[in-house]
Amino acid sequence: MGLRLKFNLILATCFIVGLLASSFVFYEVSKQNALERLHSQIGVLRAQALAVRRYTSEEIRPLLSDMSDVQFLPQTVPSFSAQTAFANFRDHYSDFYYKEAVLNPTNPSDLATEWEKGLIDRLRDNTSLKEVVEIREADGGPQYTVAFPLAIKSEGCLNCHSTPDKAPASMVALYGEENGFGWQLNEIVGAQIFSVPLKVAEEQTWESLQFLVGAMSAIFLALLLIINMMLSRMVLTPVIKMAEIAEQVSMGDSSQPEYVHNGSDEIASMSQSFNRMRRSLDNAMKMLEG
Ligand code: HEC
Repeated sequence: MGLRLKFNLILATCFIVGLLASSFVFYEVSKQNALERLHSQIGVLRAQALAVRRYTSEEIRPLLSDMSDVQFLPQTVPSFSAQTAFANFRDHYSDFYYKEAVLNPTNPSDLATEWEKGLIDRLRDNTSLKEVVEIREADGGPQYTVAFPLAIKSEGCLNCHSTPDKAPASMVALYGEENGFGWQLNEIVGAQIFSVPLKVAEEQTWESLQFLVGAMSAIFLALLLIINMMLSRMVLTPVIKMAEIAEQVSMGDSSQPEYVHNGSDEIASMSQSFNRMRRSLDNAMKMLEG
């Protein structure tokens, strides 16, 4: 096996091992970054939902509370407005999901599904948790899901969520006496659940990985080309030349010119030694002949 092949094989092996290791590290790091981006996206969505809730209870409810005595208006309920606003938001981002899922809800459409119950149970089992995160397989692909506890923190909530006789008659007339009652103070009754698709983040991670592999390969090929050219010029060509001359001289052909390699590197000093050795050999031969 020639020097060039050996050299290139070693370089290619080093490159492949390095590429595999760095791709793995890069993939893990960018996956983590992508998840963090999704997490902060959900943070923004939640802040918006909370802002709509607050707007409803501070701006809308005081205006319409009198009317609710006659006819209950769901529009005055923060949970209703936050979820309705989000439904409109989904016109633009249909893959995004938000629900105020509750185990015993006033509005049956807020009833927690099986997987939502799983998240709520985790929050109820450990009340110190601020959130639980889950990557969930959904129809459109995996979803990054975060659930935040919905706790009853103020007595005011119990006006409408403790017993039907305490709740406004117009509300009971609309929602019935069965659902959304019996909630306790400080109880975690459900969870604000947000999901965003993982697909986009995964695609971005793959794209960056492809770019990294492409860029590293291009740099490697360019380096390989330069190293090969230098190897030829600085090592292989002079060595081959000297070997040819040595071959001829060893066959008794003393007409070969001396090989001159200028410079101060190892090849130059080898060529000098080689020429000196050849001259000594020539002298010895002459002495023998004489
Ligand atoms: C004026 C009565 C009233 C008060 C006070 C009230 N709610 Fe509600 N709440 C409702 C009604 C009615 C719904 C159902 C709205 C709908 O149709 O989506 C509801 C829905 C909810 C939901 C969604 C799940 C479900 O039951 O459908 C949550 C969570 C909730 N309320 C929490 C609270 C909290 C927390 C408070 C106190 C800060 C509170 N509510 C105060 C009437 C009230």
